[in-house]
Amino acid sequence: MTATVPRHVASEPADDIVADLREHGAVIVEGVLDPDLLARFNAEIAPILEQVSAERSYLNPAVDFFYGDRVRQITGVAARSRVFGQEILCHPFYGAVCDAVLGPSCSRYQLNVAQVMDRGPGADQQILHRDEDVWVHLPRPHPEVQLASVIALVDFTAEIGATVVAPGSHRWERERYPAPDDLASAEMPAGAAVLYLGSTIHAGGRNVTADRWRRGMHMSFVVGWLRTEDNNYLSTPPGVARTLPRRSQELLGYAAHDAIADGGGYLGTVDLLDPIELLAQGKL
Ligand SMILES: [Fe+2]
Repeated sequence: MTATVPRHVASEPADDIVADLREHGAVIVEGVLDPDLLARFNAEIAPILEQVSAERSYLNPAVDFFYGDRVRQITGVAARSRVFGQEILCHPFYGAVCDAVLGPSCSRYQLNVAQVMDRGPGADQQILHRDEDVWVHLPRPHPEVQLASVIALVDFTAEIGATVVAPGSHRWERERYPAPDDLASAEMPAGAAVLYLGSTIHAGGRNVTADRWRRGMHMSFVVGWLRTEDNNYLSTPPGVARTLPRRSQELLGYAAHDAIADGGGYLGTVDLLDPIELLAQGKL
């Protein structure tokens, strides 16, 4: 793996980070979660992970194969971690990047899925893939619909299975498959994230250590008019959502997608009203 991914720090102007993201399809950004936030999040999810088995089944055999049986997963993180629901989900860093990447394609963007992926010893490299292929019916070319990331919750090294990325692959012909020299290992310290576009080829790396878990969290956002991977309304039901900041409620999809000012219509209403207002009024 000899390709490289541009590196930034989270305090730099979002425009600089987004410019490299558009150019290379991926960027590594250090300091997305500061040490205090990282420590509090890790402390909150550690006991949850202890209750999770890596040997589980998923919704179908293809997904079983994709994740394998060496990965402990936590989804619905907003309902299971106050630190996530109150701070990480609505982190201003992601807001600034999503405003730039997704803002032009929608009236409002939303969380697609947050998924802690604790990849254990012996976890094989995932199949190289593009995250946006879950929306296979979307015609191409299309505007950016997804901003994806993997946040390192421990130090990511190649041997522990750091995310593997093919920089520039967002502009490749669909048929091109990465050669070894096209790939980079997103090695980065805990608290950093590798950000990538939905069309950028990547995979979870192979964990060749004997006893270390590669704890990371996929977090991605999509335009507000696409079906999300996680069913956020069921994963974080109204009783939980109403205890979260309004910004987090918006990102979980509780706010209507109102494109009327752009000549479109609205999506996601309840009784033809905006659910986020119903939540605020105690009616949901
Ligand atoms: Fe992926």
